[in-house]
Amino acid sequence: MLKGKLVNLRAVEKKDLEEIMKWVNDREVTKYLSAFLYPVSRAEEEKFLERAMSHNDTEKNLIMETKEGDYIGQISLHKIDWKNRNAELGIVIGNKEYWGKGYGTDAIKILLNHAFNQMNLYKVYLRVFDYNQRGVRCYEKCGFIEE
Ligand SMILES: CC(C)(COP(=O)(O)OP(=O)(O)OC[C@H]1O[C@@H](n2cnc3c(N)ncnc32)[C@H](O)[C@@H]1OP(=O)(O)O)[C@@H](O)C(=O)NCCC(=O)NCCS
Repeated sequence: MLKGKLVNLRAVEKKDLEEIMKWVNDREVTKYLSAFLYPVSRAEEEKFLERAMSHNDTEKNLIMETKEGDYIGQISLHKIDWKNRNAELGIVIGNKEYWGKGYGTDAIKILLNHAFNQMNLYKVYLRVFDYNQRGVRCYEKCGFIEE
């Protein structure tokens, strides 16, 4: 488990399906995520969980939870490129009650620390829609700069 001030990051488990199903079809959440264009079935999410629980050299999904162990959302490194030492970060706080309270910033800082100091990556990048000003502000606080 990777520990921060407000959140912990842990491995994905089967039990996370119920919490994930609560937000995957909520457009208020998914309108910020480029990968979510269509309604998502339970079967699709089950497959996602199977993949996320399997070993994968180029992709890592982790669950963000509170210090009390409540599900908040997910954070990931995609397209991990070991040769060029970079990866793309993805994050979603599925439970909207947790938006704007510093949880995203804390989770990103934990994962960046891990990426740079444990995985020896050189660059972590992300993409964000311009209408996602909460996201933009959060990423600026974490040290991302616009390219
Ligand atoms: C984007 C996301 C990960 C950010 O995490 P978070 O915990 O909400 O963000 P934080 O609270 O750490 O930081 C948000 C900052 O934006 C500010 N903010 C909140 N709403 C804002 C808005 N509408 N416009 C501008 N700034 C805003 C907050 O005040 C805070 O800044 P501050 O600390 O200087 O006051 C989270 O909101 C989320 O998952 N949203 C839905 C899915 C999503 O957008 N995923 C990312 C796709 S790129």
